[in-house]
Amino acid sequence: MKDKVQRVVIVGAGGFGREVLWLCEEANNESPQWDVLGFIDENPETWGKETCGRPVLGGLQWLDNRTRGDVGILFGVGSPAVRKRLTERLAPLGLCFPSVIHPGARHSNFVTVGDGTIVTAGNIITTQVSIGAMVIVNLGCTIGHDVVIEDFCTIAPGCNISGWSKLRTGVELGTRVAIIPGRVVGEWSVIGAGAVVTKDIPSHVTAVGIPARWKE
Ligand SMILES: CC(C)(COP(=O)(O)OP(=O)(O)OC[C@H]1O[C@@H](n2cnc3c(N)ncnc32)[C@H](O)[C@@H]1OP(=O)(O)O)[C@@H](O)C(=O)NCCC(=O)NCCS
Repeated sequence: MKDKVQRVVIVGAGGFGREVLWLCEEANNESPQWDVLGFIDENPETWGKETCGRPVLGGLQWLDNRTRGDVGILFGVGSPAVRKRLTERLAPLGLCFPSVIHPGARHSNFVTVGDGTIVTAGNIITTQVSIGAMVIVNLGCTIGHDVVIEDFCTIAPGCNISGWSKLRTGVELGTRVAIIPGRVVGEWSVIGAGAVVTKDIPSHVTAVGIPARWKE
C-alpha cells in the first residue's frame, strides 16, 4: 500500500489513457493513492477540453514547467515505440514514473515490476516473474513462472504467457495471444491478435496465426 497520495498526470487522453484513469479510481477505492490532475496530450485540439471529468492540461511542454517531485507521469499510450519516444523526451525532466497495479490483480511476492509499468484489472502473475519499465499488461492476462518481460512491452487483453517465456524490449502482443513455454519473442516484434507462438520469434517482425508465422 502506498503511504501517501501522489499527484500524477496521464500522458495520452485517448482510449487507453481514459482506462488508466479508471485504474487509478479503482486503486483509490481500495485506499487513496492517486490524485489525477488531468491528461497531457500531444494533440493541441484536445487542450483545455475535459474527458471523463478531468481536464486536458496541455502538451508535453506543460511538464517542462514542473519541478522534481511535483507530479508523477503515468503513460496512457498503447504503442511501445511511442512510449519509448515519450520516455526519452520526459525522463531528463527528473519527474517520477510510478507503477500502478490494479488492487485486484493477483501475484506472488516474487514478481518485480519496473518504473512506469501499468498492470490493469484481472491479471494473474505467478512467481519469479520480472516485468521491466514502461510496460503495459492489459486486462485479463495470465503470466506464468519465470517469465521475463523487458522494457516498453505492451500486452493486450487476454494473453496467456507460459512459464520461462521471454518478451524482449518493445514487444507488442495483440489480444488473446498465447505463448507456449520457454519461447522468446525478439525485440520490437508484433504478434497479431489470436496468434499462438510455438517457436522463438526473431526481432522486428510481425507474426500472425496458429502457429504464428512471419516473413523475414
Ligand atoms: C497483426 C497486425 C499488427 C497486422 O496489422 P497490419 O500490418 O495493419 O495488417 P493488415 O490489417 O493490413 O493485414 C495484413 C494481412 O494480415 C492478416 N491479419 C491481420 N491481422 C491478423 C491476425 N491477428 N491474425 C491473422 N491474420 C491477420 C489480414 O487479414 C491481412 O491478410 P491478407 O493480406 O490476406 O488480406 C494486426 O492485425 C493485429 O492483429 N494487431 C493487434 C491489435 C490488437 O489486438 N490490439 C489490442 C488493443 S487493446
